[in-house]
Amino acid sequence: MNEIFHLQQNIEFTTAKTILEYSYLLSAVFFVVGLKLQNKPDTARRGNLWAAAGMFLASLMTILLQTDDQGHGIRNLGYIFLSIGAASVIGALIARKVKMTAMPQLVSFFNATGGLASALISFMGFFETSLSQKGTILVSLLGVLVGAVAFSGSMIAYGKLEGKVGDIRSGIMRYVNMLLLLISVAFIVFLMMVTTHSVTVTWLMFGFLFIALLYGVLFVMPIGGADMPVVISLLNAFTGIAAAFTGFLYANYMMILGGILVGAAGTILTIVMCNAMNRSLLNVIVGAFGGSSGVQGSEGGVIKEIQPSDAAVLMAYSSKVTVVPGYGLAVSQAQHTVHELEKLLESKGVTVKYAIHPVAGRMPGHMNVLLAEADVDYSKLVEMDDINPEMEQTDVVVVIGANDVVNPAAVNVPGSPIYGMPIIRADQSKNIIVMKRGMGKGYAGIENPLFFLDQTRMLFGNAKDSLQKLIEEVKSL
Ligand code: TAP
Repeated sequence: MNEIFHLQQNIEFTTAKTILEYSYLLSAVFFVVGLKLQNKPDTARRGNLWAAAGMFLASLMTILLQTDDQGHGIRNLGYIFLSIGAASVIGALIARKVKMTAMPQLVSFFNATGGLASALISFMGFFETSLSQKGTILVSLLGVLVGAVAFSGSMIAYGKLEGKVGDIRSGIMRYVNMLLLLISVAFIVFLMMVTTHSVTVTWLMFGFLFIALLYGVLFVMPIGGADMPVVISLLNAFTGIAAAFTGFLYANYMMILGGILVGAAGTILTIVMCNAMNRSLLNVIVGAFGGSSGVQGSEGGVIKEIQPSDAAVLMAYSSKVTVVPGYGLAVSQAQHTVHELEKLLESKGVTVKYAIHPVAGRMPGHMNVLLAEADVDYSKLVEMDDINPEMEQTDVVVVIGANDVVNPAAVNVPGSPIYGMPIIRADQSKNIIVMKRGMGKGYAGIENPLFFLDQTRMLFGNAKDSLQKLIEEVKSL
């Protein structure tokens, strides 16, 4: 009788394991389809839903079917569902409330929570693992290090983007950071050598966690200005890698896969961002780019204003107009208005295109998402490298709330903090209309010689209001 019972239990155990593994496979397919759909702005939202469905399936099946070696299922189901429920409500409320322009802060905050969760799981995993299993111990220690750096680094990045944390730009930081990294490695080596879990080892683990957190803070502290997108995607990659370590620790294929996907996507994005800035990753981490004080360019030049009526005439009687959208377009939520102006100009025979800089706005693909929201035809969005050769033949370039991404100092002022960053060559077009509220600086905090060029006219005002005035004027022509 007993044997039959055990056999039955064994069959149930094996069936549950098989179902779990198949559900992981299905979730992996959902992830890959989701990632593929996220390639284009018009399918990105669907891609997100696919990936979320994959994660939901994997999490649910893990909670219901995961067992330990003795066949015991997961305990405390009540607490687990309660915390998932509460976190989902909080997440949904935050995501609904957050403004598009504050998205990088939200991404940083989510990164931080992912890093913290991985660090804590790895921390506990260390104590649950026999110290003779050196491979697993190493994985748990790496999980603590990378997870903690992702957490504290992302919180600092969040503070910087919110304007609540300033930069520390002292040359000495480089050495302090190197020292902290060496101390972390020393902790790992020492903790790998201990043979019994003791109170001293527990304290050493807390010390290690503290150093890792401090390293995260001081690693991000000197980075600022136009380098923030790079550091955010790097921290995103760290969060993924930390999750993958946690997956190794508990032999959970789904966490390994999810972590590796996030880690790989974050790493690729970091490389793309570095290329967009024309900088090496090492240079971003130890250099001091963008940021506060450097005043560069032809300051002291003469600013020439233009009124909406004249700007409307200039545009409507051109054959080629190129719009350069930037952060200010997103702030004023003028995407629908600019689309309306585009259609109006096209109805008058003007060819209108949008020049897209990879780091315009405040998050990767910001302008693509913004314009897709207003149903702008995707074929009208032209990447920087493809539009630049056309600039000399463009009659009017309309810069809307962009600044750093059209700053010619990046090309002709060798001392400029953004020197070397590829830009949209608005300065090469026949006429330039710059729409912004005043003479405010861009994210890198530096002067822009474009505004002082002979062929530049400034149309001051909130981007949406100015665009509305332009539409009225074009209609009345
Ligand atoms: P910015 O250089 O930040 O310039 C935006 C300009 O918009 C400002 O000079 C501001 O001038 C104007 N503006 C603000 N609100 C406006 C409004 N309501 N109406 C009209 N104009 C308004 O923008 P960008 O050229 O898009 O460059 C992006 C910068 O952010 C780069 O330095 C980039 O590295 C950095 N960054 C990018 C990301 C990603 S991943 N895209 C993430 C973090 C940082 P006024 O105050 O005079 O109006």
